[in-house]
Amino acid sequence: MVFTTFFVTLLLIGLASKIIRHWSIEKSPSLNKKNVLPPGPPRWPIVGNLLQLGQLPHRDFASLCDKYGPLVYLKLGNVDVITTNDPDIIREILLSQDDIFASRPRTLAAVHLAYGCGDVALAPLGPHWKRMRRICMEHLLTTKRLESFSKHRQEEAQHLVKDVWSQTQAENPINLREVLGAFSMNNVTRMLLGKKYFGSKTAGPQEAMEFMHITHELFWLLGVIYLGDYLPMWRWFDPHGCEKKMREVEKRVDDFHSKIIEEHRKTMKTKKGIGEGDEEPDFVDILLSLPGEDGKEHMDDVEIKALIQDMIAAATDTSAVTNEWAMAEVIKHPRVLKKIQEELDAVVGPNRMVMESDLSNLNYLRCVVRETFRMHPAGPFLIPHESIRPTIINDYYIPAKTRVFINTHGLGRNTKIWDKVDEFMPERHFSTNGSRVEISHGLDFKILPFSAGKRKCPGAPLGVTLVLMALARLFHCFDWTPPKGLNHQDIDTQEVYGMTMPKVHPLIAVAKPRLEKHMYD
Ligand code: HEM
Repeated sequence: MVFTTFFVTLLLIGLASKIIRHWSIEKSPSLNKKNVLPPGPPRWPIVGNLLQLGQLPHRDFASLCDKYGPLVYLKLGNVDVITTNDPDIIREILLSQDDIFASRPRTLAAVHLAYGCGDVALAPLGPHWKRMRRICMEHLLTTKRLESFSKHRQEEAQHLVKDVWSQTQAENPINLREVLGAFSMNNVTRMLLGKKYFGSKTAGPQEAMEFMHITHELFWLLGVIYLGDYLPMWRWFDPHGCEKKMREVEKRVDDFHSKIIEEHRKTMKTKKGIGEGDEEPDFVDILLSLPGEDGKEHMDDVEIKALIQDMIAAATDTSAVTNEWAMAEVIKHPRVLKKIQEELDAVVGPNRMVMESDLSNLNYLRCVVRETFRMHPAGPFLIPHESIRPTIINDYYIPAKTRVFINTHGLGRNTKIWDKVDEFMPERHFSTNGSRVEISHGLDFKILPFSAGKRKCPGAPLGVTLVLMALARLFHCFDWTPPKGLNHQDIDTQEVYGMTMPKVHPLIAVAKPRLEKHMYD
């Protein structure tokens, strides 16, 4: 973030008195004695520590934890912030003090892009969030409901294999970002909206393009650290037109969802009830059939749109980004690829495709996914939490409305809890007693792929299935090497900051079929 010129001008224009006042408050011994904030870097008046953040804030925050200790306090503009990459502090925040830290800040992106924080993921703690989350847990993401979509997932897994196979026949290298993105998106939109956007039997190309375009803009805007959230005066200038962009995307997203709801209403009218006909009802059908709040016959359209919006944002990119990282690390380490394939050959064999029922028996692949989450969690931070009242952590005072950046990237690279942090070593996760390797945080909180406590990811079982299935199929069906002219170690593993944290460059690799030809039909 290089906004230095603007800030220097700001600092110089007649704000001296405010600055002096600010300094005197910050240095006030009485305040410090009573309420000792956690240690942190010195801060500037007005902008606080904003200027100390670079392109990769998770790395900057981790360096601060190395310097100041496991719990660091910063002031970003006028917002109190704490950050940590330490398992014990994370457990304290997410479990012991969950009641205090389970809220969310009301950011401008959340207001514009999540129906005024009317969704689940960005809603502050309260009855609305509770109700929306319950709808997800009881009606959309139940084991039974997810099982009812297993046929779709199986079809999409086969479509993924076929797509890669046909590209190998044309001797094209594979753009894994594209194929894995399409796999996640199709799985999610089939379950949510009842249609797929990529490959055969898809919605029209224009609608697919529109959908892709909107979701990309949405992800980008949700990931931006928008200075207007920290410095209200920034909003007067908004030099990059960020808020204008948010309002534009808000309108286009809303039009898109209105169209989806309208289409579903029309189709429902021609049927007697939900579940009628051959097709499994999708999430929109289910939401349209649920009663609303306070005795209303139906949920409001805005609530339905906010939920659809959340599911698309939460489910697609997270699994696609994780899969791309796992593929990159495995192709970079042929030793690991060999071990994955030995396991797949033993558990599945060459005469059938991997099924969902195999996934719990693929312990080495599960270690690969855990190791991927350690080094490359889907997002560099959890979605920011916010405290609802003042509290104490490790004897330090944490004010009300403190924004909490739990650094999952920093946790996986914390040298106090992990050896050889930059080496991809799936074996480190093997259970000593041979039991199934779990892809969750566990008691030690040394990785945190799906968070914990009240705000933990409600889609974790589906997310794990989508990730394991895509990887299992791709490694079972193909051998993978870097593109011509590159060595294994040349596969780049640089990340870019955002709500999710993809590789800077899309992963391109060469696939070679390893099963009989008829298996790919
Ligand atoms: C590999 C895939 C996935 C990963 C790594 C992942 C990870 C996460 C993480 C880290 C959070 C933030 C928790 C916090 O702030 O404490 C989250 C929240 C959430 N996830 Fe996932 N997720 C995945 C897939 C899914 C899927 C498939 C769905 C639904 C279909 C989903 C729905 C949600 C929702 C609704 C929230 C917000 C929960 C709340 O604030 O109460 N996620 N997820």
